[in-house]
Amino acid sequence: MSPFRLTRTLPEDAADAALRDDVLAGLTSTPKWLPPKWFYDARGSELFEEITSLAEYYPTRAEREILVDRAGDIAAATGARTLVELGSGSSEKTRFLLDALTGLRGYVPVDVSESALTQAGRALVAERPGLEVHALIADFTADLTLPDTPGPRLVAFLGGTIGNLLPDERAAFLAAVRALLSPGDALLLGTDLVKDEQVLVRAYDDAAGVTAAFNKNVLSVINRELVADFAPAAFEHVALWNAEREWIEMRLRSRTAQTVKIQELDLTVDFAAGEELRTEVSAKFRRDGVRDELAGAGLELTHWWTDGGDRFALSLSVVR
Ligand code: AVJ
Repeated sequence: MSPFRLTRTLPEDAADAALRDDVLAGLTSTPKWLPPKWFYDARGSELFEEITSLAEYYPTRAEREILVDRAGDIAAATGARTLVELGSGSSEKTRFLLDALTGLRGYVPVDVSESALTQAGRALVAERPGLEVHALIADFTADLTLPDTPGPRLVAFLGGTIGNLLPDERAAFLAAVRALLSPGDALLLGTDLVKDEQVLVRAYDDAAGVTAAFNKNVLSVINRELVADFAPAAFEHVALWNAEREWIEMRLRSRTAQTVKIQELDLTVDFAAGEELRTEVSAKFRRDGVRDELAGAGLELTHWWTDGGDRFALSLSVVR
């Protein structure tokens, strides 16, 4: 049997149907919104990679620092034989875990991007004889069924991506993850932390305008996929801190009154001058909040590791 397998649990056209549903629902709501998952076409993924090396965008470096320092502790605490990574993307940070988990037999990267999975998966099996890679094309916010690989399992959800979910979505997501775990398994969760407002806002509104381009890229995705006529330059990038909800919001603010046509949906959308479209929520966390949300899903926080600047945290939790 080949050490690299790819399983599709998402029908080929599921993404297309979901995009239509989301665009229709979000652009006919007041206020208007779009889910952040549609940023990530090839161009959007490239822009996100660029964001991760910006001076202002600290989360990727902070999380890598924790992984480098703590991979040995994570391995010792879990003894994982299978690593499941949700939203694995390029699997770049995963290498630190793969190196440290000495008893590891299987790696299960889960992503919606087939190209990322195939590239990363094939490279990994070539580098690591003995490691079975069973890639899953799946939407981790929907139903997940894991391949029958040896336990204990460690499920990793890194990057702070859980912050893109709203509180009720996070509760549902964590409950679904809990349902995948058996006693002895663990969840490794990356969360960005509440900090100085200026630092947070700058991370989402960088001087070079890369995040602005990333934000506007969702309009190009809709133009291409749904035959729409958004003019990205007619919108202004906005990043603000919502102190009450403790999350960053990214918005696109219409510079003028304008009308956009979305042919594939037979939809015409009016924007007033200054009207804002919410494109992303990126929640920031505190230890007690993470502990409570995990507990609400039947998980018990056992470890909490932060970087030297206390900017980002990795937590380990187990079935209670
Ligand atoms: C990939 C979801 C973790 O919320 O910080 C980066 C995405 N948005 N800059 C984040 C993002 C704007 C990022 N995550």
